[in-house]
Amino acid sequence: MRRSSSGDSTDVGNLVSFTSAEGLINRLRHLLGLEGLEDVRTEASEIRRTLENTNPGSSFFTELQRKGIMSELDQILEAREMERAEYYINRLVRGLIEEKPGRVNDINLNRWKEYEDVYTDSLWYLDKRDSTGAHNAGYWGNFIPQIPYQLLKRFTRKGDCVLDLFVGSGTTLIECRRQGRNGVGFDLSREALDLARENLSKEEDRYGTRVEAVRADSTSADYSSELGKLGIESVQLVLMHPPYWDIIKFSGDEEDLSNASSLDVFLNGISACAEKAHSVLEDRRHLALIIGDKYSKGEWVPLGFRSMEKVLEAGFRLKSIIVKNFDQTKGKQSQKELWRYRALAGGFYVFKHEYIFLFEKA
Ligand SMILES: C[S@@+](CC[C@H](N)C(=O)[O-])C[C@H]1O[C@@H](n2cnc3c(N)ncnc32)[C@H](O)[C@@H]1O
Repeated sequence: MRRSSSGDSTDVGNLVSFTSAEGLINRLRHLLGLEGLEDVRTEASEIRRTLENTNPGSSFFTELQRKGIMSELDQILEAREMERAEYYINRLVRGLIEEKPGRVNDINLNRWKEYEDVYTDSLWYLDKRDSTGAHNAGYWGNFIPQIPYQLLKRFTRKGDCVLDLFVGSGTTLIECRRQGRNGVGFDLSREALDLARENLSKEEDRYGTRVEAVRADSTSADYSSELGKLGIESVQLVLMHPPYWDIIKFSGDEEDLSNASSLDVFLNGISACAEKAHSVLEDRRHLALIIGDKYSKGEWVPLGFRSMEKVLEAGFRLKSIIVKNFDQTKGKQSQKELWRYRALAGGFYVFKHEYIFLFEKA
């Protein structure tokens, strides 16, 4: 193995690879001193080749970061004027040196191309549920972990606190633990809370997070005092994944929103939660409501939009309406066929989507 003269890359047989960020930055800065576009292109392609030969596992960047840097290098290579090439080189160097954190997240905007895993479109097609670590589909009605994954990435920083008002089996708290966020989850059901705690005990705690599953009726609890007991004054993100009214009965408890005696009672519960959440959420932070619609006596009941109105009335601004695919395809083929027949005969459509309404505290 031979060190290169500048000490920034290593020659392993034929493979030259970068060993430090400084090495890469020095090579990029060198481009700025070159006279003509042709020389820039020749050296930039060499840098690109070196990057290609560098094993991300053994270097200072991840595979995703390498892809981002390579795409920036491609822009340099495609530049038709020296001025443009210099602009791209400076931008890439700045991205490697300076952090430009997002207002409410840990995304470095100077390296935004490296966050391919973070969604920015309003249509989410999630194919397979994440079942890594403690995540599992053992609680009927739990959401796919990719939902809290995405929301935590975009709307929280490490060390922030997330409040989930309907925590169920703890999917959000598992994701908090994984991403280094603290979390508090309320739920009415003791069984759900036990399951949440059991699930959490199976998730590795690399960041020393604090996550708590608390028994509380989210429609009537005093949020400040519940959080106060844990030494928390305010939270930085609120998630609400309530029952979709009576589609799934979660318990026999009267306060359980899945037992609401009418749509108005259900919506009053949503209003109460949104108002209480508003009082403990930090200013200009976010609340996400995950909910689907239902049919009742042949009529589509737009639970999502009716609930959205309640959250707006509680003092939130609407930021996005995300539509996510929803598939209860675990059922047998014969059931699917039955629903298709009913839809054809009854003049309706089988539910295949639900909503993620995203709000900001105004
Ligand atoms: C759709 S599930 C949430 C699932 C959760 N996101 C997960 O991944 O496991 C709704 C939860 O709301 C709880 N719930 C219903 N009414 C409630 C209330 N008034 N206060 C607190 N929790 C309630 C139910 O016990 C159930 O666990």
